[in-house]
Amino acid sequence: MTIEPFAIERYFAKHEFSARYLLSASDCEGLPMRELIEKSPSPARDMWNQLKLNYTESQGHPILRGLIAAMYPGLQASNILVGAPEELIYITMRTLLKPGDHVVVLAPCYQSLASVAKAIGCTVELWYLHEQFGAWEMDLEELARKLNSKTRLVVVNFPNNPTGFLPNKTQFQQLIQMVSTNGATLFCDEMYRFLEPTDTERLPSASTESNNAISLCGMSKSFSLPGLRLGWLACQDESLISRLLVYKDYTTICNSAPSEVLAIMALYASERILSRNVNMIQVNTDLSRKTFEKFPNLVRWITPSAGSVAFPAWTGNQNLALLVEKWVNERGLMVVPGEYFLVANDHFRVGLGRENYPESLGVLADILGKM
Ligand SMILES: Cc1ncc(COP(=O)(O)O)c(C=O)c1O
Repeated sequence: MTIEPFAIERYFAKHEFSARYLLSASDCEGLPMRELIEKSPSPARDMWNQLKLNYTESQGHPILRGLIAAMYPGLQASNILVGAPEELIYITMRTLLKPGDHVVVLAPCYQSLASVAKAIGCTVELWYLHEQFGAWEMDLEELARKLNSKTRLVVVNFPNNPTGFLPNKTQFQQLIQMVSTNGATLFCDEMYRFLEPTDTERLPSASTESNNAISLCGMSKSFSLPGLRLGWLACQDESLISRLLVYKDYTTICNSAPSEVLAIMALYASERILSRNVNMIQVNTDLSRKTFEKFPNLVRWITPSAGSVAFPAWTGNQNLALLVEKWVNERGLMVVPGEYFLVANDHFRVGLGRENYPESLGVLADILGKM
């Protein structure tokens, strides 16, 4: 199988550890190990101290899977498969898809949600969100026109990276119903779930709503721990978990033992971690609106509904791809433009979950002020 390079990952590889200001990071401010360990309850600390660095259970530590399952009403530890989030996208597509299948992917999107299916030899059709009246909208009639008898998988991501779009609950149920009626599977990437402004806006997980749905979530974004390289799939169909495990034996076999214990600690502390992140995102969102309002000829701010990223429009005349290159080289400011999310370069992503976001935004404001 040949696969196209993962453009955003290559772009981050080039700049993430050298650029001084990362305006477009998608994760929330990293959590120091010491804080995580010191504040965790003693049973988890005992697990940490007594941990032997052996191989681990392929499906994931049972205690970890139990804690995860508790976030999915009606699901049990047996409905959860733990792995690295990117790995889970890969093994799901490899397990479910074959050459010639039709796959619909909501865009803009995280590239691998489309690239893996393309590499398998599927026909991948992008289904675009539209910007309307200063907000992102999803058109279900457009989806209905795309679905056909060969559609095997519909891939969505809510809260969406990079737009921060979240459908309302009625639209979400309609989507689930449409995919199921068509006989396809819904892959719902929920990596930014739990970063809604309030709990009432949170959608149920697709995995609890339909036996035709698989949900992906993980520690990397909402829980501030991307370095653990841990996420999970949730689905009602346990036989699918067994099939996914066949593939996992060829990727990582099992998860890192210390990462699993640290993830258990983070889930015990989830309320504290999530409320810290939601508050930081709120403050940074307000600041973004106020800042970009000063430059109406260059940027149109679009408030995200949830998640840690937003995707404002670039309304200036200059070519955004050339500008971001100049900004990173001359000012150490890294900004990710639309092309990395399979759309035109007329939007760019900002990451609202980092502590130094105001500083990075200040650098961009200084640049925009001089244009
Ligand atoms: C929507 C989405 N899904 C999956 C992933 C993969 O997560 P990880 O990098 O932790 O493997 C990302 C990472 O940016 C993402 O934005």
